[in-house]
Amino acid sequence: MRTVRTVAELRAELATSRRAGLTIGLVPTMGAFHEGHLSLMRRARTQCEVVVVSLFVNPAQFNDTADLERYPRDERHDAQLAADVGVDYLFAPSPAEVYPPGFATTVSVRGLTETLEGRHRGSRHFDGVTTVVTKLLNMVGPDVAYFGRKDAQQALVIGRLVRDLDMPVRIEVCPTVRDRDGLALSSRNAALRDADREAALSLSRALHAVQEAVAAGERDPDAARRRGWEELQTAEVEPDYLELVSADSLAPVQRIDGDVLAVVAGRVGATRLIDNTLIHVLPAAAASTGNGRP
Ligand code: PAF
Repeated sequence: MRTVRTVAELRAELATSRRAGLTIGLVPTMGAFHEGHLSLMRRARTQCEVVVVSLFVNPAQFNDTADLERYPRDERHDAQLAADVGVDYLFAPSPAEVYPPGFATTVSVRGLTETLEGRHRGSRHFDGVTTVVTKLLNMVGPDVAYFGRKDAQQALVIGRLVRDLDMPVRIEVCPTVRDRDGLALSSRNAALRDADREAALSLSRALHAVQEAVAAGERDPDAARRRGWEELQTAEVEPDYLELVSADSLAPVQRIDGDVLAVVAGRVGATRLIDNTLIHVLPAAAASTGNGRP
């Protein structure tokens, strides 16, 4: 695996593969690799002839400087892990390479970004994500880019970005990887103290409680949500949100029907965690006529 630091070097490295028509896969990351990242890299490795992983802790998407400073960084360890799963290039640019002096452009996706994470982290957050992802896609020019479903809102926003701007890339959204106890893997988990672990688990337990309520026939989102709240309250976690939203528009649902995303975010100690699960209920009309989804 080669580590490259500049866009010019990266493009020179990829030029031959591109000319030869090889499939290029990109896994955009901010480092501190865990099994979730590695599963994206493995997926890219099985589908693409050339695999690029970008490692860039993007200052533009942090609304809080302390959070940016606290973000875990260990490039040498990350490079070893990426090499072990067969990545070809680690693209690790400096902030000045990504945002040179005079940088003045922001890419903004409206509609999907004002709610949930956007509401709690501020509008700069998704602008920072969509701007850097646009740049990374332009820098690498991949055929496929891989994102984790744990950041469900981010994945939806990036899908819209690529569609709206006719970017010639396929976005593949891959399943959330969890620890055996159900905790969704996140680079931020490393900051959890042992004592916080039980409280952190209340997020996935809350989602599970919502899912169970729906499986038992509950179709009222407030009632299903209350079941999740109970799990959070027991663990004394005050969530930023626990919502049931449309999996397409992220608008709150009035009734649990079709594809609904249960999403939760909250702070455990100093660490902010998010999680989600997709709930599929056969739409009422289809269920009554016996027609399933196409
Ligand atoms: O999900 C992340 O790690 C980041 O938001 C991303 C997509 C790499 C952009 O900085």
